Amino acid sequence: MTQTRPATQETFPREATLRDGTAVTLRLMEAADRDAVVAFARSLPPDELLFLRTDITDPHVVDEWVRNIEQGRTITVLGEAGGQLAGYGSLHYNDVQWMRHVGEIRILVSHDYRGRGLGRRLTNEVFALARGLGLQKIMARMTPDQVGARATFERLGFKPEALLADFVIDREGKTRDLLMMSLDLSGFTNTE
Ligand SMILES: CC(C)(COP(=O)(O)OP(=O)(O)OC[C@H]1O[C@@H](n2cnc3c(N)ncnc32)[C@H](O)[C@@H]1OP(=O)(O)O)[C@@H](O)C(=O)NCCC(=O)NCCS
Repeated sequence: MTQTRPATQETFPREATLRDGTAVTLRLMEAADRDAVVAFARSLPPDELLFLRTDITDPHVVDEWVRNIEQGRTITVLGEAGGQLAGYGSLHYNDVQWMRHVGEIRILVSHDYRGRGLGRRLTNEVFALARGLGLQKIMARMTPDQVGARATFERLGFKPEALLADFVIDREGKTRDLLMMSLDLSGFTNTE
């Protein structure tokens, strides 16, 4: 049976089953998760680290992330499988007056858990939280080289909005274009 559930942070932690039967625990990230998040980031292949918006292999950067959570600017849903971090979905929003209806999503799933529906699941959790906060639009940023990520976001309903030339610089100092995609949340129904 499909159930509609309220989109609040109080619904966590929660158990979920991915489409291949993998059991995951969904819970909100907190300060105590800092080391696990750093370890997760450090386990990623180097070419993937190139694309991270912030260098989350650095504990100080994750400390800043935790501060943003504590200050209510970010909500991060962690997906754990077999006691290990398998991925996260983050909602970032700000108090800039004329963009207060827009949130940004960032998702990352470890290689071992890709293609099982965890990215979609985390995205849906972020959408639900965003709707609960009254946000109307969700934005995702990536470089066009992230072919899989772009295909995934398109599959999830995002549309390309803008391509900004040489707008990001990777860890090796190479500039890349920045693709901005967005999704209108008005059509989103929170079901599972
Ligand atoms: C993007 C990412 C989060 C997807 O995670 P995932 O758990 O593999 O995604 P899912 O299995 O839930 O797939 C979601 C949808 O995208 C599709 N998809 C996933 N990877 C794809 C790929 N490489 N090419 C085409 N489609 C793809 C799936 O078929 C699925 O569609 P469906 O549910 O309708 O069948 C993961 O690849 C990742 O962490 N990439 C690196 C980080 C990144 O680039 N993040 C995006 C910028 S914030």
